[in-house]
Amino acid sequence: MEIIIQPTAEEMSRVAARVVAKTLYAKPNAVIGLATGSTPLGLYRELVRMHKEEGLDFSQVTTFNLDEYVGLRQKHPQSYHYFMHENLFKHINIPQQNIYIPSGTTDNYEAFCQWYERRIVECGGIDLQILGIGSDGHIAFNEPTSSLGSRTRIKTLARQTIQDNARFFDKIEDVPVYAITMGVGTIMEARKVILLANGGNKAAAVAAAIEGPVTSMITASALQLHPNTLFIVDQEAAGDLKMRDYYDWIQEKMPDAP
Ligand code: PGA
Repeated sequence: MEIIIQPTAEEMSRVAARVVAKTLYAKPNAVIGLATGSTPLGLYRELVRMHKEEGLDFSQVTTFNLDEYVGLRQKHPQSYHYFMHENLFKHINIPQQNIYIPSGTTDNYEAFCQWYERRIVECGGIDLQILGIGSDGHIAFNEPTSSLGSRTRIKTLARQTIQDNARFFDKIEDVPVYAITMGVGTIMEARKVILLANGGNKAAAVAAAIEGPVTSMITASALQLHPNTLFIVDQEAAGDLKMRDYYDWIQEKMPDAP
């Protein structure tokens, strides 16, 4: 694992955007896995800027989103369909047919989940997966005790996640209880993973994911078994890391840090 600690969330986002851009320069038709939530917003803003000002090209890119709330229509302002359209897709030149987001309104979830997994494989697999992390250590909606081998499926959200996400809804009762999510096993098949985290409320989860045991209690800890994972975190999210000096030392000595 590689760990990059940046002073602020803005700098975290810029480093992440450079990793995405590097991937696209090397492979213009890359398959990118995308996340929602507040963490990747700065990254998406920077990618939009790079598209508009530097010509970063998405015309051959395919994307797969990690998850979606069950029961929210695509046009619901808190659906992840809406989020992705508003914050990224409508500002860049990605073809509509190259965008995949799990359906929160299908009438056959099991068949949909199987189809989603199959589409990822048919598109060549995910080259670069972007992740956030929940305060309970989840990646996508793989809540504590999710199987580390899990695939795309319906999950019941943890109370902690419902509380964390209530800030986006009028009231906590409006937060959906179920989501459709890629599994930990699905995520682990991405060729490269970048996990972003900012803010002190993520410090414990980040430390557990990087320095704790591999455990389904912190599904992000499965990334310790992934051969190409990059954590990009801000100062506050790095607050509980014991090996902090070592990570900074590695970056200092690295010839081509992103
Ligand atoms: P956040 O969510 O970016 O809104 O903090 C992260 C997550 O739950 O994975």
